[in-house]
Amino acid sequence: MSKYITTPIYYVNGEAHIGHAYTTFIADTFARYHRLKGEDTFFLTGTDEHGQKIEESAQKHNKPTQEFADEISATFKNLWDEFGISYDKFIRTTDEEHKRGVQKAFEVMYNKGDIYKDFYEGHYCVSCETFFPETQLVDGEFCPDCGRTTSVVKEESYFFKLSNYEEKLLQYYEEHPEFIMPKSRANEVINFVKGGLRDLSVTRTSFTWGVKMPESIHDDKHVMYVWLDALLNYVTALGYGGDEAKMNYWPADVHFVGKDILRFHAIYWPAFLMSLDLPLPKHIGAHGWWTRDGEKMSKSKGNVVHPKEVADAYGVENLRYFMLREVPFGQDGDFSQRAFIDRINSELSNDLGNLLNRIIGMSGKYSNFVIDSKDVTKYHAKELRAMDEILDSLDTYIQKLQPHRYLEELWRVFAIGNGVIQEYEPWVKMKNNQEDEALATVALVANVLARAAIMLHPVMPETTKIIADALSFEINTQSFKKLVQEKALLDTFTIKKVPPLFPRIDEPLMEEAPKAEPNPPKKEEKKVQKESTKEQDNLIEIGQFFETSLKVGTVVEAEEVPKSKKLLKLQVDLGEEKPRQVVAGIKEFYSPADLLNTQVCVVANLKPAKLMGMISEGMLLAAKDEDGLCLVRPEKPKKAGTPIG
Ligand code: MSP
Repeated sequence: MSKYITTPIYYVNGEAHIGHAYTTFIADTFARYHRLKGEDTFFLTGTDEHGQKIEESAQKHNKPTQEFADEISATFKNLWDEFGISYDKFIRTTDEEHKRGVQKAFEVMYNKGDIYKDFYEGHYCVSCETFFPETQLVDGEFCPDCGRTTSVVKEESYFFKLSNYEEKLLQYYEEHPEFIMPKSRANEVINFVKGGLRDLSVTRTSFTWGVKMPESIHDDKHVMYVWLDALLNYVTALGYGGDEAKMNYWPADVHFVGKDILRFHAIYWPAFLMSLDLPLPKHIGAHGWWTRDGEKMSKSKGNVVHPKEVADAYGVENLRYFMLREVPFGQDGDFSQRAFIDRINSELSNDLGNLLNRIIGMSGKYSNFVIDSKDVTKYHAKELRAMDEILDSLDTYIQKLQPHRYLEELWRVFAIGNGVIQEYEPWVKMKNNQEDEALATVALVANVLARAAIMLHPVMPETTKIIADALSFEINTQSFKKLVQEKALLDTFTIKKVPPLFPRIDEPLMEEAPKAEPNPPKKEEKKVQKESTKEQDNLIEIGQFFETSLKVGTVVEAEEVPKSKKLLKLQVDLGEEKPRQVVAGIKEFYSPADLLNTQVCVVANLKPAKLMGMISEGMLLAAKDEDGLCLVRPEKPKKAGTPIG
């Protein structure tokens, strides 16, 4: 049976951060797990190099775009090589074979009638490389995904008939409930599709850094939309449109992606594949976002976690273990050195590292380092059964994409190892002339450690090699089959002394991140932060609340903003020298007449913002649900400017 595992391909507009490392570690772990089981596995990663964002980044760095892409792509590849990532192919979307494959796919979809030419007018977010209809923008201007300013774009474009696939997609989700994992993420995709799919613009004319159109279409003005180009990497890497020798790996078993790009993978990608008459991937595994010390990471805050820095300080395998164990797959996670150190000291050093030390210590004292499993079954059948039951269950956590549960369960095996030493006290037995029993316990623990090391190998490949070496065996498919599946015991061997695997850590090994600013988050960061932190995890001090100045205001003028579906322009008296101008996205729910001479509640100390070219010097409090929006107003008239709080 073959397996195909992928990471997203990373944009070459900056260096790798901890989020990239996380997906790559997970995918690498799964690929290694399948190889360990003897499955023919193909693991793909690479870089996404086209599009306006990359073109602009190269310009900022005063470099030709290709040269810039080459440099950044190499930093990803070198980092993964340094980290021992076991990819089978590192694809670049500037590879000729990839470009040919994309052109071929475009041609197939076009000839099928799924692509047509028209005009596009919409709001484009360069950062997300995505168009949004005006109705989806925040405050008529900002990207609903990342919060950045969008720009209005009108251009000729080829469109993919995404709307044709609405029903087929919904049917597919229904028939394949495990397609989107974790399942909790499926609903947001299904609701999005149920909300109606618009045809997707799949070419651009406003810049040139993209895959050219197929020659058969003769339309050089256009280059391909970067997401069409990027998603196709999963099949062009196997030779789609060229030498298709590796297409036997298709369909992919899992595309690992971050939750922010789930929609592209769970809606657009399956629709493209349906159009190409190719089977759909078995699972899309969407993971959550990492914060640092509870804060969203950003270059401007200077709190981005650089995986190389962490790996240099703590070791890359400790980092792999921490990231996979710390966060239930699919949920957001937080990187803090404290939590990291705690796991290294308690789980890696105490539970695992000590177990090896104790076997070395005891076997050295009792049997000149020789370990013999001959009496293990006689004295420890119960413990062997308990261990095997856990080991047999581990595969289901791989099937369910739950590496954190896999590790949690595996640690119960180490607990068995530590528990028997406590319970059977071999040192007492040695004194009481029960040498056979004492040595059987030591040998049991060596077997526990051996089997657990095999199963830990996909997460910590190098560390487990050292353990296996100390126990005189090699971790590979044969030993997996023999020791884990067939449950054979280790042959008699002489244990090797090794230095402690996980020295305890007392103090953080890296500088702490700069402290968070006391100011409320900027508008740009608001949306993402709201998503990535749960309220109860984000309690504030009363002082923080009072940093917001809320006041009662009287609307003294109100008018519609021409050409805007959402905005009204108000003059609001806050008891100051002159009224403040507030531009509010409430036009769908209130007319100017509804507001004139009424009172509203205003956030009065927001930095002024520009909406459709107009200054807005405050924000109205409002409540919104499925039935619409209503303003929050004082119950009785109050003097303009009265503070609220
Ligand atoms: N190029 C696209 C993917 C195309 S796949 C056909 C892209 N690239 S990216 O470099 O911006 O992001 C790659 C991955 O990194 C995404 O899965 C994203 O979720 C992940 N992360 C970026 N920041 C992250 C965190 N702070 N935490 C966890 N993962 C995050 O999107």
